[in-house]
Amino acid sequence: MAAAPESADSSKGGSFLGWIDQRFPLTSLWKSHVAEYYAPKNFNFWYYFGSLALLILVNQLVTGIFLTMNYKPSSAEAFASIEYIMRDVNWGWLIRYLHSTGASAFFIVVYLHMFRALLYGSHRKPRELVWIFGCLIFLLLMAEGFMGYVLPWGNMSYWGAQVIVSLFGSLPYIGGTLVEWIRGDYYIADATLNRFFALHVAALPLALIFLVVAHVMALHEVGSNNPDGIEIKKYKDAQGHPLDGIPFHPYYTVKDLVGVAGFLLLFCGVIFFAPSFGGLFLEAPNFEPANALQTPPHIAPVWYFTPFYAMLRAVPSFAGTQVWGVLVMGASIVVLFFVPWLDRSPVRSIRYRGPIYKVMLAVFVLSFIALGVCGLKPPSGIYPTLAKVCTILYFAFFLLMPWYTKFDSVKPVPERVTGHA
Ligand code: HEM
Repeated sequence: MAAAPESADSSKGGSFLGWIDQRFPLTSLWKSHVAEYYAPKNFNFWYYFGSLALLILVNQLVTGIFLTMNYKPSSAEAFASIEYIMRDVNWGWLIRYLHSTGASAFFIVVYLHMFRALLYGSHRKPRELVWIFGCLIFLLLMAEGFMGYVLPWGNMSYWGAQVIVSLFGSLPYIGGTLVEWIRGDYYIADATLNRFFALHVAALPLALIFLVVAHVMALHEVGSNNPDGIEIKKYKDAQGHPLDGIPFHPYYTVKDLVGVAGFLLLFCGVIFFAPSFGGLFLEAPNFEPANALQTPPHIAPVWYFTPFYAMLRAVPSFAGTQVWGVLVMGASIVVLFFVPWLDRSPVRSIRYRGPIYKVMLAVFVLSFIALGVCGLKPPSGIYPTLAKVCTILYFAFFLLMPWYTKFDSVKPVPERVTGHA
């Protein structure tokens, strides 16, 4: 049989795009992941946060590159180079505030994005891998945030790193050697700053980009969940497109722009009017250079770590070791990976779950916020007790999940999605 003429496929015609398509699957990638990716038509407010997380990732990468052009990763020069960026580099203050506010915005958006999964059961079969890639992203994001915070070499950078890195020292047998290996010295020093810089600007961003691509590819393989938590692939039209699906482009590209506009309003509001956000996004002791001889009056990590820090402090040290606190803090992250298998409810979305899940989720969110507050405050007064109670509630949400999701009542789930495009 004669071969079809090369121009038979219109997308591969004589145009420049055709030339590219014959050598690289640009149009087919665009079609399969955007123009012909059928997403459920009932996405709501909670579905803004995936695309916003992507936007912030790009913001961090671009502003990070420009910061790196003027930053000096040495203990002698780092603090002064940040001052130089803020005062002398053209638009340096804006680049830095975009990056520092971006870090906090990243965590706000990712926490809301994860909460959406718990609302609608997006972690459930067949999206377990989407969730697991997400958990790995979260872990890397924490490492990225921690190392980035050390770079300005302010006093809180220094002492924060001191406290967090020395936690590894409480591990039996390997602790001491491990801490020395991480620091590259006997204390937090120039070598530590250098390696944190390398990890923060090269290794971790690369790994993050890889994981985000894997996250979205895994999602597009199985298709998106939605606020009703039902599969839209069950009912298809003659062309094989889901009846309750709409092409991602133009429908959700345009809808996501509304989310982007709302986000940018708030983001710019913080950058231009409250970049340190009352000491939450940029802490007061970090406006002073690192001083190994002067501990800040109260050492606390940045707000997005404080729920986990509070869990660490909630566990009393036994025989002079904090190892149990460290293990509890580690377990609070590790447990996230198991959520797809801990959740045994016959339905996905909170819309059709019974009262027990609703109460448990609400208590979980409140205790997570309370833990965040406890971690910011000095461990005195009501806070140590509150942190203990909330740590128990945090773990109860996950560890009791197999039980309460199985016995909770459920409402009938509709066959087709209930929202309208
Ligand atoms: C850099 C961070 C992240 C980026 C850029 C990102 C990006 C995205 C995007 C673009 C989507 C599709 C749009 C949407 O459903 O909102 C998505 C979906 C999803 N993400 Fe993420 N994500 C990130 C972190 C996480 C984390 C930390 C988790 C959970 C541990 C997670 C869990 C999920 C789940 C379960 C879905 C499917 C939602 C559904 O279909 O209902 N993601 N993500």
